[in-house]
Amino acid sequence: MKVAIVGGGTMGRAVVQSMLRKRLAGKQDIIVSDVSAQSRDYLSKKYGIPVTADNSQAVIGADAVVLAVKPQELVAVMKQIAGQLKSQLVMSIAAGISLESLCRHLDYRLVVRAMPNTPAQVGKGMTAWTSTGELSGPQHEMARSILAAMGAEQYFADEKYIDMATAVSGSGPAYVFLFIESLIDAGVHIGLPRSVASKLVIETIVGSAEVMKKMAVHPAELKNMVTSPGGTTAEALLNLEMGGFRSLIINAVTAAYQKAKALDSK
Ligand SMILES: NC(=O)c1ccc[n+]([C@@H]2O[C@H](COP(=O)([O-])OP(=O)(O)OC[C@H]3O[C@@H](n4cnc5c(N)ncnc54)[C@H](OP(=O)(O)O)[C@@H]3O)[C@@H](O)[C@H]2O)c1
Repeated sequence: MKVAIVGGGTMGRAVVQSMLRKRLAGKQDIIVSDVSAQSRDYLSKKYGIPVTADNSQAVIGADAVVLAVKPQELVAVMKQIAGQLKSQLVMSIAAGISLESLCRHLDYRLVVRAMPNTPAQVGKGMTAWTSTGELSGPQHEMARSILAAMGAEQYFADEKYIDMATAVSGSGPAYVFLFIESLIDAGVHIGLPRSVASKLVIETIVGSAEVMKKMAVHPAELKNMVTSPGGTTAEALLNLEMGGFRSLIINAVTAAYQKAKALDSK
């Protein structure tokens, strides 16, 4: 598969790495186009892939084009590449830019809208995606394989779910990092050395997520297993509930969802 990636920042690099790691494409089958000379140098040295500053040239001859620039750069980029689109699959990973908007600016309909997250950098991402109905079966599978190389993927026929996924899994790593940071700070507060608190917390988060994944049990049941009557965990949970932990998370995600919808309508 020949892939052109416009934008070689955090997410563009995640696409490059995962495609090479999963052998979906060889080094010479991937080209990255980026305005930043520093970024181009880095990508060419680190991965040995061709790089260019010319977005429109980059997409010629590609099977798939991944648009990985910031949403505010996207319209300009779409104008540059629109004339070169013949049969390529175009995948945007920009937050808050609807399929309708992508198709209008590109004047083209073989388009996928995807919302990955940053754990894609280590092949553990979660991507929600949708597409126009015009993709061929093989193009749909090509899109799925590019996204699956970065971790898990979930296709939605109805685009409205992408804004919801943006609020849950797109922004989700930031919520988890904040929780991790808070738990480490709490450990330090009660006297643990920071490096030890950090190890305890990371392994606890990874272990808990693994248990959740393997046992397929409701989280409330898993929580109950840790909570002895009158014990330490019950004491901590009471304080979290008194502080409105659950409703705070629900309110935060709802606010992120409203923001995603507002971006989408622009
Ligand atoms: N980071 C996340 O958590 C996340 C999650 C899901 C989706 N996304 C989406 O992924 C996209 C990329 O995000 P990112 O975090 O990877 O951004 P980023 O690190 O800023 O990378 C974007 C890259 O594109 C370059 N660029 C800017 N304008 C360009 C142009 N006209 N032509 C070609 N290259 C250009 C930038 O160069 P300069 O640095 O010189 O401007 C930069 O190297 C965004 O649309 C974002 O919404 C991000």
